[in-house]
Amino acid sequence: MIVKPEIMRGGLVKNPHPVGCKAVVEKQINYMKNLPEFTSKKRALIIGGSSGYGLASRIALAYGADADTISVSFESGVSDKRLGTAGWWNNIWFKEQAEKDGLIAKNIIGDAFSDDIKLQTIEMIKKVFNGKIDVLIYSLASPRRTDPITGITHNSVLKSTVGEIAAPTLDLNKQIIVDGKMMAATQHDIDETIKVMGGEDWQLWVEMLLDAGVLAKRFKTTAYSYDGADATDAIYKKGTIGAAKRHLEVTARTLNKELHILNGEAFVTVAKALVTKASAFIPLFPLYGCALFKVMKELGTHENTIEQINRFMRDMMYGNKRITDKVGRVRPDNLEMDDTTQKLTNEIMAKMTSDNFKSISDFSGFYQDFLELNGFNVAGVDYDHPLDIERLQTKQP
Ligand code: NAI
Repeated sequence: MIVKPEIMRGGLVKNPHPVGCKAVVEKQINYMKNLPEFTSKKRALIIGGSSGYGLASRIALAYGADADTISVSFESGVSDKRLGTAGWWNNIWFKEQAEKDGLIAKNIIGDAFSDDIKLQTIEMIKKVFNGKIDVLIYSLASPRRTDPITGITHNSVLKSTVGEIAAPTLDLNKQIIVDGKMMAATQHDIDETIKVMGGEDWQLWVEMLLDAGVLAKRFKTTAYSYDGADATDAIYKKGTIGAAKRHLEVTARTLNKELHILNGEAFVTVAKALVTKASAFIPLFPLYGCALFKVMKELGTHENTIEQINRFMRDMMYGNKRITDKVGRVRPDNLEMDDTTQKLTNEIMAKMTSDNFKSISDFSGFYQDFLELNGFNVAGVDYDHPLDIERLQTKQP
């Protein structure tokens, strides 16, 4: 079978390229292998470790902290209709390489919001990690969550808390700018989004692990957030997603107190805007990303996902160059938020039209990252070589 990128309505890619996904995981691993370790051996749990920031965190810890890792993610394998999800293959390839390199790597596939998966994870920590973890990375991006106590399913929405606003975005399939709107959120929309993307589940995880006695002394946990500047304010900070992220900050303060007994810490990490499965569909965000990448690449400050997470972990999570803001959030997005960077990005955004955006912004870089999310257009991969799906299917995460 030959697999080519097929972008469907809404920008999702129909099938990932399993071998291309392997090359993307290896690229990130090799980046870390070429750097010195940043801390002593760790045992890490990553919630949402199959793609985006979670996968980069898993790789950075495995190869920068010699970490044994357990990842929880919600991914599916090959079916009659699809070749699975990119995250499914990322889990397989990461595990295969980590085990070759002498590391423990376990994948738990299922709903991280459920009690059942939390209990399975605790059992696994007891079995394979001598009963303790040193670090928990919370990196979920999900459209819905079933509350384990009430059984009610909540849906997160991308809406504005300041009334209906224009939110043009990129149609990645047709490669044009399309007009779009962000609808005004009701209080119910805000509450629902907080239920899904706020801190409640992160708190449940940490408290359950704490009660089970599986957190090591000096345990650290962080949840990823985005803040954004003027250009994305209306859709992000003043959007339902921004409200959920602020809830995460309140949770961090609660958890931080609870972790005092272990001399541990909990904090929110505000990461840089990057192309991931989740971010590519936030209105306006792709336009901002194309403009931002152009500026940051020209200024020499651009970082891809693994570069951003490596710097965060090396300098700020374990190192002594932590940048913290006035509400206690850790800020590896400092280079994105730089005044000159923002000014130049805004200037490009003000000029962007369907006719010129490819030449005045870094659309090609943004699109390349988008294709790579599903294993396409990766150097060294022969896309004309048919995939042996039967053989690939024998691999399990
Ligand atoms: P992503 O879509 O690449 O990864 C999401 C992960 O969550 C995947 O591993 C997926 O399997 C997992 N997941 C989703 N629902 C699940 C469930 N019910 N049970 C278990 N696993 C589940 O997303 P991305 O962009 O890496 O986002 C991760 C976090 O980083 C989010 O909190 C996001 O807000 C934050 N962030 C993202 C930025 C960006 O530009 N992409 C910027 C700053 C922060």
